[in-house]
Amino acid sequence: MKSKNYNGFYKTIIEDETIYRQIIEYSVETIVIHAGHKVLYINESGAKFLRGTKEALLGANVLDIFLEDSQPMIIERIHKGMTGTEPAELVEQTIRRLDGTLVDVELYCHPVIFGDQKAIQSIFRDITKRKQSERRLNDKEKLASIGQIAAGIAHEVKNPLTSVKGFLQLLKETQSHPYLDTMEAELNKALDTLQNLLQVAKPDLLEEPIVPIDFCKELTSLMLLFQERLYNVEVELLLTDSNMIILGKKNLFLKAFFNLLKNALEAMNNNGIIRVEHYYEDNMIHIKVSDTGIGIPKNKIKMLGTPFFSSKSDGTGMGLTQVFTTIEDHGGMIRVHSEVGKGTTFHVQLPINVEQKVTD
Ligand SMILES: Nc1ncnc2c1ncn2[C@@H]1O[C@H](COP(=O)(O)OP(=O)(O)OP(=O)(O)O)[C@@H](O)[C@H]1O
Ligand SMILES: [Mg+2]
Repeated sequence: MKSKNYNGFYKTIIEDETIYRQIIEYSVETIVIHAGHKVLYINESGAKFLRGTKEALLGANVLDIFLEDSQPMIIERIHKGMTGTEPAELVEQTIRRLDGTLVDVELYCHPVIFGDQKAIQSIFRDITKRKQSERRLNDKEKLASIGQIAAGIAHEVKNPLTSVKGFLQLLKETQSHPYLDTMEAELNKALDTLQNLLQVAKPDLLEEPIVPIDFCKELTSLMLLFQERLYNVEVELLLTDSNMIILGKKNLFLKAFFNLLKNALEAMNNNGIIRVEHYYEDNMIHIKVSDTGIGIPKNKIKMLGTPFFSSKSDGTGMGLTQVFTTIEDHGGMIRVHSEVGKGTTFHVQLPINVEQKVTD
């Protein structure tokens, strides 16, 4: 009777352990137990998330997945965890997976006893989606406020300039002076710029129907526009998944990709490799425009998309404003990767089902 009870007791413990093991193994979160920076345990989901195998990760240095700048902070946290009993506060980190890709995670650490030694249990939660929507919101807010200010100024300046133009034309009818034509031409340039800005800042003003767009076809045609400037440029078109059609305002998109291609060419001084990619992944159309040009310094990346931000003597600095506004308006997002001296990639992602967002 007694032994039956014991058996039942052990059976329950073993069943409990199996259940706990399964809960941990297949938890959606990455669970790593480490001591002396060495990985002692990693769950199945964790190995998958880090794009490696359990075998490769066991015994590895846990610091290797953290970016160099954050390693001192992580070492400090681990040290605190090993010497105390309290869990460390939640932090957000970017980590590098085994295949080199970067991912945003929320990191939680807790001291535990593993086997017979003190160790740290770290739990990583993938927050890519949350980060993306935060960034999109920020971008959207930034664009909305910049757009409103820019459109307001453009509107105010445009009115007096239009009346100056009227008086100039009257003046020209009664008098002739060589400067008058130059004045009129310069005035027209200023008015065009303002009109352009109004359109970019308030694209809703542009009444355009929503139509199905085959980006593979449109991107190929756009490249033809640059033909005479592509003389010394190698062009790589990697266009797949052409059956995926986006609904949107076609002319706005054409203008946006024209602006990206023009920037790419200008960055390379018409010499280098330009690559245009199109593919479908995770319900999104991805379009990448890459160049092997001068690149953009890190501190300037944040400025991209701000009206009038330009490093070119003849640039208006409105090309990217138009690009960012158009992509945002279609529910998409845009990321920029750039290395000075190596080149730049503009990565546009557009949700395949955008009908709702563009029409409301
Ligand atoms: N592919 C790129 N490589 C390097 N720098 C770039 C690239 N794309 C944009 N930039 C930087 O961003 C700035 C803003 O670009 P944007 O297209 O808005 O204006 P612009 O090209 O200067 O003027 P415009 O488009 O009116 O000719 C550029 O002046 C340049 O410094
Ligand atoms: Mg430009």
